[in-house]
Amino acid sequence: MKEKLSAISLEAKNAVALCEDESQIENLRVKYLGKKGELTAILKQMGSLSPEERPKMGALVNEAKQELEALITEKKDELKAKAQEAKLKAETIDITMPAKEVKSGKLHPLNTVLDDMINIFQSMGFDVVDGPEVETDHYNFECLNVPADHPARDMQDTFYLAENLLLRTQTSAAQIRTMETRKPPIRVICPGRVFRADEVDATHSPVFHQIEGLVVDKGITMCDLKGVLEEFAHEIYGSDTKVKFRPSFFPFTEPSVEVDVTCSECGGKGCRVCKGSGWIEILGAGMVHPNVLKSCGIDPEEYSGFAFGIGLDRLTTTRYKISDIRLLFENDKRFLDQF
Ligand code: PHE
Repeated sequence: MKEKLSAISLEAKNAVALCEDESQIENLRVKYLGKKGELTAILKQMGSLSPEERPKMGALVNEAKQELEALITEKKDELKAKAQEAKLKAETIDITMPAKEVKSGKLHPLNTVLDDMINIFQSMGFDVVDGPEVETDHYNFECLNVPADHPARDMQDTFYLAENLLLRTQTSAAQIRTMETRKPPIRVICPGRVFRADEVDATHSPVFHQIEGLVVDKGITMCDLKGVLEEFAHEIYGSDTKVKFRPSFFPFTEPSVEVDVTCSECGGKGCRVCKGSGWIEILGAGMVHPNVLKSCGIDPEEYSGFAFGIGLDRLTTTRYKISDIRLLFENDKRFLDQF
C-alpha cells in the first residue's frame, strides 16, 4: 500500500508540474483529492490493515494529500498570475497614440442669437408662442388693418399659394391669433420664419426671421414700448449702446416707430456696414392700432398695447460681423464651424 501511495504521489506531482492552465489543474485536483479521487480511495482501503499499521498509514496518506494540496494551490496561483499577465499584455493601450477627433454638433448662429433674445424677453415676463408659416390673407393682412387693395400691401411682396392662402410675410399674423385665443393682459413673443419675394443679395433673402412681440393690457403707453425695447437693445448690444426711435408707418400700429442702435462695427462714427450713418435699424414697432384690437374682439377704449417686429438675421449678422446674409442659409459647414 505504501508503494502504491508513493507511486500515486509521484504521478500526481509530475502531472501537476506539466499543467498549463487552470482547468487542467482543477481536473487533477478532482482526480487525486476529490471524493472519488485516487488518494481518497487509498484511505478507504485502510480497513484491510492491522490496527497497528492503520494510524501509520493514515498519517502517510494525509501527509501525501497535504503535500499535493499545497502543490496544487501553488500551481494554481502561478497559472493565475501567468494568465493575468498575458491578458494585460494583450490589452496594452498606447497612451501616446493621438485620440480620435470627436465631432460635436453646434447651434446655428441664428439659434444662438434667438435663444439670447428669448431669455431676455422671458426675464421681462413674456411667453413664447408659435404661429403657422402658411397663413391666410385674413390673418396676415386683413386683421392687421391692411384690407385688399390697400397700398401697404406693396410694402411686402407676397408669395401666394392659392387665393387667400400665402406664406406669411410677417410674424405679425401671430399677434392676431394670440389676441383671438388669450385675454389681456397679454405679453408674448413669436419667433419664426417669414417669406417675401425679394431679390437675393448680401442683405436680402426671400426667407428670413422675425420675432414678433405683443403687449396688451389696461393703461399701456408708448413709455412701456420705449422701456421694453431700450432694455432689450442694451441687453443685446451692451448698456452703452444708444437707442433711437424714429417715426415710421405700419398699417397695424399708430403711432409707429423704427428703432436704430449705434452701429456696433464703428461705434457710431460711420462705416461701410451702417452706410456712413453710424446707426443700424433693428426693428419696427408701435402702439397697436385700435382697428386691430377691434378685429380681435378687444375693446380699444378699455385696453391698449404695443407691438414690435425684430429682424433676427440683421441682429445675427451685426453681432458676428457676417458680411453676407446668404451665409446664414447656405449651411456650409466650414462657415458654421466658426461659431
Ligand atoms: N411686421 C412689421 C414688418 O415686417 C414689423 C412690425 C411688427 C412693426 C410689429 C410694428 C409692429 O415690417
